[in-house]
Amino acid sequence: MPKGEPFKIKMVEPIRLIPREDREAAIKAAHYNPFLLRSSDVYIDLLTDSGTGAMSQFQWSAMMLGDESYAGASSYYRLKEAVTDITGYEYVLPTHQGRGAEKSAFAQLITRPGMYVLSNMFFDTTRGHVQLAGGRPIDLLLDVPTEEYHPFKGNMDTARLEAFIQEHGAENIACIVMTVTNNSAGGQPVSMANIRETSRIARKYGILLLFDVARYAENCHFIRMREEGYADKAPIDIAREMFSYGDGLMMSAKKDALVNIGGLLAFKDEELYTRVGGTVVPFEGFLTYGGLAGRDLEAMAVGLREALDPDYLAYRVGQVEYLGNLLRSAGIPIQWPVGGHAVFIDAAKFLPHIPWDQFPGHALTVALYQEGGVRTVEVGSLVMGRDPETGENVRSPFEFTRLAIPRRVYTNLHLEDVAETVINAFQKREQIRGVKFTREPKVLRHFTAHFDLV
Ligand code: F0G
Repeated sequence: MPKGEPFKIKMVEPIRLIPREDREAAIKAAHYNPFLLRSSDVYIDLLTDSGTGAMSQFQWSAMMLGDESYAGASSYYRLKEAVTDITGYEYVLPTHQGRGAEKSAFAQLITRPGMYVLSNMFFDTTRGHVQLAGGRPIDLLLDVPTEEYHPFKGNMDTARLEAFIQEHGAENIACIVMTVTNNSAGGQPVSMANIRETSRIARKYGILLLFDVARYAENCHFIRMREEGYADKAPIDIAREMFSYGDGLMMSAKKDALVNIGGLLAFKDEELYTRVGGTVVPFEGFLTYGGLAGRDLEAMAVGLREALDPDYLAYRVGQVEYLGNLLRSAGIPIQWPVGGHAVFIDAAKFLPHIPWDQFPGHALTVALYQEGGVRTVEVGSLVMGRDPETGENVRSPFEFTRLAIPRRVYTNLHLEDVAETVINAFQKREQIRGVKFTREPKVLRHFTAHFDLV
């Protein structure tokens, strides 16, 4: 097997590491919140893998074919053809990004206040849209410790799922959402066996099963590598089997459709398409463009297929694993095995002297920027926010610092610089300080909060 990337580079974007004193000044001026940094002050940007990938020459050239008609654009039909081919779902609605798809779906599916939506684990915007529509989101993730090996740590706990349905009644459940891969649990995959069993339960009780497929191609790769009976199957065939078990999908196309902006909804059933389309039109745009330009639809149609290429997937998931191995062999505590899009450092173990409500995961993001100009993000108690009734901070089961790798953007030498930054910070970890709020917004506080070091 060749070791190199399955592409060569035709266009470049300069980056540079600014001096340490400038990094210290920049993060202080950003109130110790990496979201408030200017990207030109960042050397390697691992804030997110969302919308940050590099498009191929085929995507860029397809953009020139964009049909900008308001309704019935040929670009829409090219996108629909790709989606139907991969998923088997006939009814396709573009949206401006994943959260537009979520808002449109839950506004229609949650028909009474207090209805439950059950998931292996919600991403924050998905959870938010369930709540905004009056629903109650419930996570039913399989419980496995962060450093213990399990091939499919993203799985739904199907025993708890069935028990929950029996206790609360199928009529009180709006739908089940299977998130593949499971971002909030560390980008961990879900097995086909788990998807099949979830589908069996959903059908038994007559509950709708939707997939959140931001990173489904990476999930197909993990099934191929780790689940018996799939080694010889093409990722697209694994995808087709997976989608056959559900009723529809919501997608942030900014990940596994390899585009910088875009989202999708797709359904098996025309009735659902018509209902959800009723929200897409006023909030996103007409049914055939959903808040995107025709050229964006073209890039998405091409990207959806590229992301299922086996050589691309081996490179992609392999690069994340490469960084994971560099860190793990240096004794850095990480979520193991690594997921498909990011390495998650266990910041509670990295910084045991920082209490959870001084946000060790966030303290480490500040330290990594100061140390090597690497931008990362906290996924832990900071993101959880406060309990609306008691006003207390909600404690997350994990205190992670996420190093999300953009697709087709950085080389392994960049990742070696990242590993060196983390290892240097680890050697000085006693000097890393916790943070406290100097300004705390009420909703989605992590994006815009101001902090000081404790
Ligand atoms: N679902 C999952 C699993 C996600 O990871 C995201 C976004 C969304 C839905 C929402 O999609 O951003 O296009 O509106 N995740 C990004 C991240 C933001 O950094 O993990 P969106």
